[in-house]
Amino acid sequence: MKINNIIQDTFGRKHDYLRISMTDKCNFRCFYCMPDEKLSFYPNSKLMSADELLNIAKTFVSLGVKKIRLTGGEPLLRKDAREIISRLSNLPIELAITSNGYLLDEYMELFKEIGLQSVNVSLDTLDADKFFNITKRDYLGKVLSNIKLFIDNGFRIKVNMVALKDVNIHEIPDFIEWTRNEEVHVRFIEFMPFNGNSWDFSKIVSYKEILKIVEGNFEYDRIEDAKNDTAKNFRIKGGKGTFAVISSVTDSFCGSCNRIRLTADGRIKNCLFSNNELDLLTAYRKGEDIEQLIFQNIESKFKERGGLPEFEDIKKEEDLGKGRCMFAIGG
Ligand code: 5AD
Ligand code: SF4
Repeated sequence: MKINNIIQDTFGRKHDYLRISMTDKCNFRCFYCMPDEKLSFYPNSKLMSADELLNIAKTFVSLGVKKIRLTGGEPLLRKDAREIISRLSNLPIELAITSNGYLLDEYMELFKEIGLQSVNVSLDTLDADKFFNITKRDYLGKVLSNIKLFIDNGFRIKVNMVALKDVNIHEIPDFIEWTRNEEVHVRFIEFMPFNGNSWDFSKIVSYKEILKIVEGNFEYDRIEDAKNDTAKNFRIKGGKGTFAVISSVTDSFCGSCNRIRLTADGRIKNCLFSNNELDLLTAYRKGEDIEQLIFQNIESKFKERGGLPEFEDIKKEEDLGKGRCMFAIGG
């Protein structure tokens, strides 16, 4: 809906946070994100060019968007990532990025120059063998040294860990211990169902279960959450960093959702779980009025989970219907 030229939905939620996927390609192959079948990615001609991405982003900014996060696949894989990031940094927004961490060192000087300070790194294990099992790459050392490099250079680093029962649940205390002497912000994410990720309710490590693990091992405080934060934040006594839980499944945060997603092929996704995407790029290429389309799309936004039933009622990934895979959404 258009209200005072800002983007608002029928539930009164103002949308001022845009997540742009720069590419669906990735240099990792995380088993819960990339499905087993032979993958197919978008040809470059289907992706927004740097100019298109910038102009579409500008339209969103003119409609009140105040924060843009770049996602992937792996956003830093794009050949023109530098150009896109520098040009976006000239807009009156907070610019952030989510990366798997592998290429970060190559971008540190650019990030410093343009004042990009907030970097989220996806990292599910601190064990090299397990890292290989999860990502099919032997890159743990590089990712950890890049995280250290960025923290030492004053960046705010959040580490996203998708907690899975049979995979990394036992590492939760290690991740928390990491926050004791390092200014790192670890966030445990409940495993969400997406096309091709073999989701099953029983694989989730829930918010409650995570807290139980923490209680048995640490003295900690609940700390204040930022506005529209999807995470519940904590700090161990005397800890330099913090940890948090993103309870996307067992206690979702749709009520305060301010997020709009733009896929690398230029489609608006008004919810992680919505299947009704709107092809903004094709309209843009035809010279149509994309403002109107943005308002219309947000007007069709569901109250919760893109209109899906409660997660408890979904049980298995097959009950989801045919949405996108995670790597083509960008988180
Ligand atoms: N559930 C929760 N988080 C996920 N991510 C990818 N797939 C899932 C899922 N099924 C995370 C990545 C990354 C972020 C973009 O989304 O690990 O941290
Ligand atoms: Fe927003 Fe959809 Fe996530 Fe709910 S499930 S918080 S509506 S993106």
